[in-house]
Formats: sequence, C-alpha cells, structure tokens
Amino acid sequence: MRTTIINVSNRLPVTVGETITKSSGGLVAALEGLSPEDYHLKWIGWPGGSTDDPARQKKIEQLLVQEHGCVPVFLSEEEVAGHYGGFSNSSIWPLLHYMPNFMRYDPAWWEHYRNVNQRFADKVLELAQPGDLVWVHDYQLMLMPGMLHAAMPELKIGFFLHTPFPSFETFRCHPKRRELVAGMLGAHLIGFHTFGYMRHFRSTVLRLLGLESEITRIRSDDGHTSAMGVFPIGINAPKFEETLGSPEFAQRRDDFLRANAGKRVVLSVERMDYTKGILHRLDAIEEFLSRLDVNERDSIKFIFVSVPSRESVEEYQELRADTEARVGRINGQYATLSSSPIRFIHSSVDFTDLCALYATADVGMVTPLIDGMNLVAKEYIACQREHAGVLILSEFAGAAEELSSAVLVNPYDARAVAQTLAEALALPEEERRACNEPMRARVMQFDAQHWARSFLEALQAADISRSVEPESAENAAARLRAAMGGGERVALFLDYDGTLREMEREPRAAKPTPEIRELLQGLQKLRNVDVLLVSGRSHQDLELFFPEPDFSCVAEHGATFRRAGQREWVQWDRDISYAWKEEIRELLRLYEHSTPGSWVEEKRTSLVWHHRKTDPEFGTWKANQLTHELGTMMANEPVKIRQGRKIVEVTSAQVSKGVAIRRLLHEHDYGAILCVGDDQTDESMFELDQPNLISIKIGAEPSRARYRVADPAAFRRFLRELLTAARDGNLHTAQPAVIH
Ligand code: UDP
Ligand code: G6P
Repeated sequence: MRTTIINVSNRLPVTVGETITKSSGGLVAALEGLSPEDYHLKWIGWPGGSTDDPARQKKIEQLLVQEHGCVPVFLSEEEVAGHYGGFSNSSIWPLLHYMPNFMRYDPAWWEHYRNVNQRFADKVLELAQPGDLVWVHDYQLMLMPGMLHAAMPELKIGFFLHTPFPSFETFRCHPKRRELVAGMLGAHLIGFHTFGYMRHFRSTVLRLLGLESEITRIRSDDGHTSAMGVFPIGINAPKFEETLGSPEFAQRRDDFLRANAGKRVVLSVERMDYTKGILHRLDAIEEFLSRLDVNERDSIKFIFVSVPSRESVEEYQELRADTEARVGRINGQYATLSSSPIRFIHSSVDFTDLCALYATADVGMVTPLIDGMNLVAKEYIACQREHAGVLILSEFAGAAEELSSAVLVNPYDARAVAQTLAEALALPEEERRACNEPMRARVMQFDAQHWARSFLEALQAADISRSVEPESAENAAARLRAAMGGGERVALFLDYDGTLREMEREPRAAKPTPEIRELLQGLQKLRNVDVLLVSGRSHQDLELFFPEPDFSCVAEHGATFRRAGQREWVQWDRDISYAWKEEIRELLRLYEHSTPGSWVEEKRTSLVWHHRKTDPEFGTWKANQLTHELGTMMANEPVKIRQGRKIVEVTSAQVSKGVAIRRLLHEHDYGAILCVGDDQTDESMFELDQPNLISIKIGAEPSRARYRVADPAAFRRFLRELLTAARDGNLHTAQPAVIH
C-alpha cells in the first residue's frame, strides 16, 4: 500500500515569480528519490514573499497543487517579518548556532511564530488522513509537532532538525526554551545530523522538563513516546553524477581551466551567513597572503560564492558590509598589476557552473564556525572524480564526522588555517586521491535519498501507542463500584507521595491539602470501606501530616503501623536485624559528599540516598554507580537495593509494603483490594497474589499494575467520583468514571 507523506518545511521547494520553477535543494532530491510505488508526496510550505491579493493567491495555489504537488501557506508581510525575519532568524537561529550574542527577542515575534506554526498545522490537519506520515522540518516549525499531536494523536509525526542542537547552557538563554522543546516532543521521531546534537537535546529536555530519557527514547508524562535518531543528510548524488557526465559540464570545466591557467584556485561556497565563518576565513587568507612574495601572489586565486541570504535581518546586512569592506581592503593591499587575489561573487550560481567550480578548484575551503551538516563539503568531494582537490573542513561542521579524511581545521585559529592552506596546496596528488576516494564513495552512497528513506522507515516503525491508557482505569472504578454496591468490604491501600499528592522538591513541603484530607476522611466514613495509607515515609512524618488517626497508616514501607482510631504506632519489625545499616551509611555519606545537592535519609527499615536536587545527569550517573557498588557489597545481606525516582534505597528484605498488606488482609475478607502507587517501592503491592486485587500505577513508567492513571490530580478525581457515587447510592447504575 502506498503511504502518503505530508512533508512540511518553511519554504516550498519552488520559486514563485512570473512563472513557478522547482528548486534543486537536497530536500527536494531526497524526497523525489522515494519510490512513487511506495510513497505519495504532498508538500506544505510558504511559497516565499508575501501577497495579500486573493486572486493571485488562488492562481498560485492552483498551479502549485496541480503541477508541483505543493500546498502553499500564504503569509502576510507582518507574519513574514515576525516569524521568518524575527523569531526564526534573529532569535532561534543564532542560539542554535551557539551565538547568543546575536540573539534578539521580541514578544510580538513569538506570537507570530506560534500563529504561523498553527497555520501550518491547520493546513496539515485539513489534508491528513489516518495512516499518513507527517514530516516536519527545521527550526522555523518547532511548535508544529506538539500542535499536530494535540489535535490528532493518531497521526504519526516526524521532526528533523537541520541545524545543530546546542548545549543546554546555550539553549537555556531563550525566553521560550521550554515551549520550543515541548513542541518538538510532540513528534514520534526526532532526527538530528549527529549524536552530539541528540545528546544535547536529551540533556536539555531533562533539565527543562524533568523528563528522563533512555538513549533513543523520551517518554512524556502522558505516556507519549518520542524516539530519537541520528540521520546525517546527504547530497543529491544522482544529479551530481548526471551533471558530471554531461557535455555542458565538460564545456564549463574547460572554460574555467582555461581562465585560471597557471593559477591555484581556492573555492568557498555558502550562503552569506555569520555562521559560515566568512570573516574568520578572510583573516586566514590575509595571513596566508602576507607570507607570499609579490611573484607568488599572481599564482593564487580565491573564489568566494556568497549566496544572498535573509537580507531583511540586520546582522546579515552588517555581515555583507563587513565582508565587502574586508575583501576590498585585502584586494587593495595584495593585488598586482595583473590580478587581485579574491573574486567575490554575491549571487547564486548555476548548478552546472557550481559543479565545474567544485571540479576545478585545487582547494575547497569550507570553514564554518558552526554548521548543522554543510552540504557544500560533501558536494565538493562528489565532484572530485578525475580531479583531486583538497577539502579543508572546519571541525565544527556536522560533515566533519563523516569526512574524517578531509584536512580538519579550527576556523578560529587564523594562523593555523593559513598554514594548513599552504600545506594543502603542496600535497602530492597520490595523497589527495587516497584521501578523497573513500570519502567520495561514502558521500555517493549515503546520499539524500538514503537519508530520507532511513528517516521514513524509522518513522513508520515508531510506536505511536501510548503506554498509558488512562481509560483503562475506568474498569478499575467499575470493579470497585460493583464490589461496594454489592455490599462487600473494600480496602483502599493508597501510597501518598506521587499518588495522592504531587511530589515536591522538599519532601516536608508535600503536606496534604484540604482536598486530600476531605477525600480520605470521606472514604473512610463509608460503610464497608477501609482506607489504609501505605507510605515509605517515617511515622513521625505521617504523624505530622495526619495527627488524627482517622484511618490506618502503614509507615516506613511496612515496618510501623497505626490503626484507625488508635494513637500509638506499633512496630512490626521487632525481630529484624538492621546491622547492615552501619556499613551502608558510611558509603552513602561518601556519595553525599561527592554529589552536591544529594543527601542521606535514615529510616527505621532503610537508608535512602536522594538526588532530586543534584545536577540531573550527574545525579543519575552517580545513582547508577551507587546501585552497582551496593549490589556487590550487600550480596549476602538480607536487603533489597532499589533505584527509584531520584533515590537509591536500601531496605530490609523482610519488610515491604506488600508484606505489610498481606498481614492486614488476614484481618478481613475483602471483596475488592485497591492498591495504588507511583514508584518502585509500590510494586510489592502490585505483585500480591490476590484474585480481587485492583492495582493502579500512577504515571507512565513500566509497572506490574493492571491499570494506570496519569497523575495524582487524575487519581484524586478517580477517588472523588467513587466517593460521590457511594454517597449518592449510585454504585450499580453509575457509568464508569472517566479519567483524563
Ligand atoms: N547552493 C545553491 N546555489 C548556489 C550555491 C550553492 O543552491 O549558488 C547550494 C549548495 O549546492 C548546497 C546548499 O546551497 O546544496 C547549501 O547547503 P549547506 O548545507 O552547505 O548550507 P545551508 O545553506 O543549508 O546552511
Ligand atoms: C538552512 C536552514 C534551512 C533554510 C536554509 C536557507 O539550511 O536549515 O531551513 O531553508 O538554510 O535559508 P532561508 O532562510 O533562505 O530559508
């Protein structure tokens, strides 16, 4: 069956003027290369420019849809200024490229960015059918996956970021940092060019949204999962191969060879963008020229193809002025009567000419200060078929990971770049060929089509089923009502933190709210209902939170018990030895010391190392290390070691919530036993072998519980509806509770 791909990029792959022409970028090639038997492509995007004339819009739309499979989203002048010139290219672009000093922010831009993302999303929603794949591209549309997912959860959404993703320290500067990453997380697959970008993204999500990730998956609190992957984009290889074999190419190549006879040519091709390192490269060139004597200067020619870009943005205007001034100065200083060293071309060049330039340049000089991938580097290599030029490549380009036989440089070090250039020009041909051949084979094989296919295959394979199915708790509610309605006795074993009450950074701050008190008291007062709070907290803590013994409480994971209506706490663990604590206490203290923000908590039956307030990555790393160390140390002791939510806990194996409940179950014959909890320590309740057990896990983590509820607020609603139904005597006839 053919799959429809709805591809969404800010720009459509067309140029709209008097006529409409298709552009030849890598993305077009990648998607056009997909087999039409397998995929049907629709492309949504901005056709460029702005037009408010409805008649013209209609005409353009018709042509685009019929002849190019493209669906335009027209933007007003104001929207283009706010979304494109403002938020996308003056705010996020510099930040994604580690240049916060170029970042500007205007709240009005954010409004435009959101609205334009929403307009793009609405267009997708108009067209999308069940089973379609949506592929959203790049930083101009970061909010779109979230918007699409919220509106149509069954739609499979992929997002690819064509730029770097910077470290958290840089990304955190953005006023809308949380909204941006949350938007991306709406996707089921998020693709990056390199592992480094993916790593930064994971760490940013952890720090901004508190979401832990496995290496290639992030699970949001609602159970939606975003897979992540590394998909380095490639070039339009068939098009290069075809052009390199054409007579037009041979003609232009010979023209260039003739025009540059007797000269060594060094070529740079890029959009006029401050990330491309143009001014730094000019520093290096100046340094290089200063080392030549007058006779040598005639034998070298630098060609700069600087394609005009984002000319409405101030920083780009300044860059152009600075570049032109620098080029003028260098040419003035180093020109001879017969030539000047730099030929600066501020326009785009025809594709065949571009190939001929690549194929005749002795050196391709690609020295961005930072670049997501940089296709020019790969294209230069693709054109070294008969000819053997040298690629000088910035180590800060994503392409450097794949093109490791290129001559890698630090573009900030002008002297070193000048020296490298001199060495590159002197490299023997054999050596140049030996470097280029494996790189060329790789570039031609892993091309744009390969990239698109691998991304789409991964997207197709991505799992879109939520791991949390809140509606499944409806059945839990129905079972409880049935038991209560049938006059049977019901036990409600409820964990406290993370179950009835949201977690707080400071455990003592997680006091019960009036709503929680009222719910627990209300349920306990029902005929035939026993409420039992089952917590890992110390009994002193519970006493503080619930001074009145309105209902029964199990503290310290089952070691201590206070019966409803009685004031004293009973120790259930009198005969158990805690001698193991001494050794462990010492070890945990060492971890406390070496992990700032962590602390040790001592409970009667356990010792707990908390890392909730540490650097999240360091804390998790140390928790893994500690768990491993404890495992070896305590192999022969009667303890259980558990790594829970932001804790590592060592508990007596003879005491657990499950053991405590089993003890209490002997006292009555219950028609239904509800056990609810949110973390590892609650699993012992869920493992009880009881036919009338109703187990509910709060949150999205894997669990043995049968039912799930998303969070404490939803669970309180669950209890509220149960209470109301019981009070109204509505137990048999009531519809199951709906949990959102
Ligand atoms: N390019 C172009 N017209 C030109 C010169 C270059 O379309 O006159 C193309 C070039 O072939 C390459 C792309 O522009 O495919 C630039 O991509 P790259 O990844 O190097 O940088 P980006 O512009 O995406 O930052
Ligand atoms: C980079 C971005 C693309 C963008 C292109 C050209 O490659 O990653 O999303 O389309 O530059 O920039 P422009 O502003 O002209 O669309």
